[in-house]
Amino acid sequence: MDKTIVVYKSKHGSTEKYARWIGEELDCPVVSEKDFQRKNFSLYDNIIFGGCVHAGGIMGFDLIKKNIRHLEGKKIVIFVVGLNVMHQDTRMQLREINFNKKGLNKLTCYYCPGSYDPSSVKGIDAAIMKMMINMLEKKKPEEVTEDDRRLLEGVTEGIDLTDRKYIEPIVAEFR
Ligand SMILES: Cc1cc2nc3c(=O)[nH]c(=O)nc-3n(C[C@H](O)[C@H](O)[C@H](O)COP(=O)(O)O)c2cc1C
Repeated sequence: MDKTIVVYKSKHGSTEKYARWIGEELDCPVVSEKDFQRKNFSLYDNIIFGGCVHAGGIMGFDLIKKNIRHLEGKKIVIFVVGLNVMHQDTRMQLREINFNKKGLNKLTCYYCPGSYDPSSVKGIDAAIMKMMINMLEKKKPEEVTEDDRRLLEGVTEGIDLTDRKYIEPIVAEFR
């Protein structure tokens, strides 16, 4: 039987939550990216990597990027967790920014909506979010989309969009 592992990078818990749900469904180990040893890739046939999105980048994705040549022959599936990942245009942007190295383009990627609690975001992260809020608030009324409004509300008041249903297509890949 194929051996599968879920490796994740989460800052505030929603990516970890999705990773653990997948681990439960597939009955496989779930390890955070910082605890995962690259040499252990060789122990698995299937690698599921999940990373949260910060300023357009998939956190922890270097683990896959830097080792992609050694992962030849394995099934690799990526899931990304963010607040703004449910539309085709933002997904395309994410792919352009993060899957820009040879060998990455063919990877399957799933998108799971995350959560945001303004009281737990500090330092540089809070500054980035402040910039994003300012940008959204400065938009001309006619340029503000329904998504912008929802995003602005979510990041100012907090939001939790996580749902187990989003792991279904990921789990189906390995059943
Ligand atoms: C500093 C910062 C930047 C973020 N940038 C993005 C972004 O570019 N796109 C997006 O969809 N979500 C963005 N988010 C939202 C996070 O991806 C979301 O809160 C996610 O659930 C975080 O995952 P985690 O709970 O596993 O850390 C950002 C959050 C923070 C704190």
